[in-house]
Amino acid sequence: MQRGKFLTIEGTEGVGKSTNLAFVCDWLKTRGLDVVVTREPGGTPMAEEVRSLLLSKRDEPVDETAELLLVFAARAQHLAQVIKPALARGAWVLSDRFTDATYAYQGGGRGLNKAVIEELEELVQGDLRPDLTLILDIDVELGLNRARQRGELDRFESETIGFFERVREAYRQRAESAPDRYRLINAGATLPEVQAEIDSVLSELL
Ligand SMILES: Nc1ncnc2c1ncn2[C@@H]1O[C@H](COP(=O)(O)OP(=O)(O)O)[C@@H](O)[C@H]1O
Ligand SMILES: [Mg+2]
Repeated sequence: MQRGKFLTIEGTEGVGKSTNLAFVCDWLKTRGLDVVVTREPGGTPMAEEVRSLLLSKRDEPVDETAELLLVFAARAQHLAQVIKPALARGAWVLSDRFTDATYAYQGGGRGLNKAVIEELEELVQGDLRPDLTLILDIDVELGLNRARQRGELDRFESETIGFFERVREAYRQRAESAPDRYRLINAGATLPEVQAEIDSVLSELL
């Protein structure tokens, strides 16, 4: 059995990840592929509990290393329960965020050491990496305005503009550093334009 492909969608708040994930899912299913859609942090009942811990606003300050370890704890569970078994049976896995978000949010946003993130990535994932990552890129304020229209903001969405500028920059650097793995997509365009671009990326992949 041929291993399935692992696709991830990344970007700052309100950039259109969930909207376009549904588009990619339909695109692949239309072509007869077995698709598993999931998200991070989360993707299993236990990992979703960790997600709630991470996203809920609290009075207690959250230690940055505690945040980093929770993210990877959830990821280990997600890999074991969902991602690896799906890939092994030949399904395509489509995840709304994955480890690039850790480099962007905990690395770029919070300023944690990249080498530490790389070590945890190695520990938790071994050599497993996404085959393709779509990074939706948008002016930070524009994305936040879209996210705000969705309702109350979570602990990350409530961060400063400066934080999101660093997150965006980290994503852009990752896209630049490995053009084979990443496609940077202008998410400030209209939805049909964004989806036309995604369509051409997927056509190239298949
Ligand atoms: N290209 C686009 N142009 C305008 N609005 C968009 C576009 N893409 C997504 N939206 C809208 O922006 C909001 C946030 O999109 P969403 O997919 O939830 O973002 P994310 O999952 O990245 O936070 C939604 O209301 C969605 O309909
Ligand atoms: Mg979303």
